Amino acid sequence: MMRSTWLAFAVAALLVASVAHASPPAKLKVGFYKHSCPQAEDIVRNAVRRALARDPGLGAGLIRMHFHDCFVRGCDASILINSTPGNQAEKDSVANNPSMRGFEVIDDAKAVLEAHCPRTVSCADIIAFAARDGADLAGGIKYQVPSGRRDGRISISDEVLNNNVPGPTDLVNELVESFKRKGLSADDMVTLSGAHTIGRSHCSSFTQRLYNFSGQVGRTDPAIDPAYAEHLKMRCPWPSSDAQMDPTVVPLDPVTPADFDNQYFKNVLAHKVVLTSDQTLLDNPWTAGIVKFHAAVEKAWQIKFAASMIKMGNIEVLTGDQGEIREKCFVVNHY
Ligand code: HEM
Ligand SMILES: *[C@@H]1O[C@H](CO)[C@@H](O)[C@H](O)[C@H]1NC(C)=O
Repeated sequence: MMRSTWLAFAVAALLVASVAHASPPAKLKVGFYKHSCPQAEDIVRNAVRRALARDPGLGAGLIRMHFHDCFVRGCDASILINSTPGNQAEKDSVANNPSMRGFEVIDDAKAVLEAHCPRTVSCADIIAFAARDGADLAGGIKYQVPSGRRDGRISISDEVLNNNVPGPTDLVNELVESFKRKGLSADDMVTLSGAHTIGRSHCSSFTQRLYNFSGQVGRTDPAIDPAYAEHLKMRCPWPSSDAQMDPTVVPLDPVTPADFDNQYFKNVLAHKVVLTSDQTLLDNPWTAGIVKFHAAVEKAWQIKFAASMIKMGNIEVLTGDQGEIREKCFVVNHY
């Protein structure tokens, strides 16, 4: 009785806190294309559905794409722009190439949108809709996506890992700082890390933990469950130089790899996660408490995840007459 009362209180407090934090600066609005392109969100959803029928892993790719887009120059679809002879774009940063997937889903949606409502729906909004649809189709996370973003015209590879997208070896305080720079809280960071309940990682993102922990050759991070570490060593032989050289991947959630559930948080508690950036959430009492809460109350995590995704989708957005509506998502307009 005591325990369930406490839990109910904690759920209520955390939900109120996260919803209060989530209120956007009201630049974007739900249903932005209601008059200009009423089928917009259906068209994107159908493209995501077609893609998932082909390859269910693409939902994970699209969720991650929204994150990496928003953390570099805001949610402006800068991640989609191709490199040119004079410029290496975000797409070709080691944080995205070759691990980022789902670009063709966006191009597919954009082609249909241009046929129905030319030059109307931004690529940045397509990514935001597609990420939501990926989460919904993989796990019934439903939320309305405020839209009205405009597309940026600049994409620079070097910016990705330069104080923008966090790295897999970052420790909890660095992760908190990284999200804070984007206006997101430690709670948002833990909540959104729950996206690692689906999808995959290349071996190169964590082999140092298996074979060269803190720079000592042959040492394994004691924070990994020993049996799980042995399993990972079989999947990922050393040395795994980089993802370009070694395409081997393992599921981020070894228990329910394709379900968008709260298993990720249980994995963190059980020391069965591949990335340092996931395990380190237990190193701080506040973030560890949030991990335990999400592991215990799936519904609360789902509601918070939707709120934090909306908040992430508001980072430094271009609106009004800023930027442009790209005609093709992989290249800026030429007029
Ligand atoms: C907290 C900081 C984060 C770090 C350091 C991080 C790092 C990573 C790394 C290293 C991978 C594996 C890439 C590979 O080797 O293939 C990955 C995958 C993934 N990340 Fe994160 N991530 C973070 C937060 C997030 C957030 C906020 C989201 C979205 C809300 C997200 C969504 C995903 C998804 C869905 C995948 C699987 C992608 C796929 O299967 O294609 N991550 N992340
Ligand atoms: C082991 O880790 C150290 C410190 O991070 C690094 O300098 C060294 O290159 C690593 N060795 C290998 C073989 O990766």
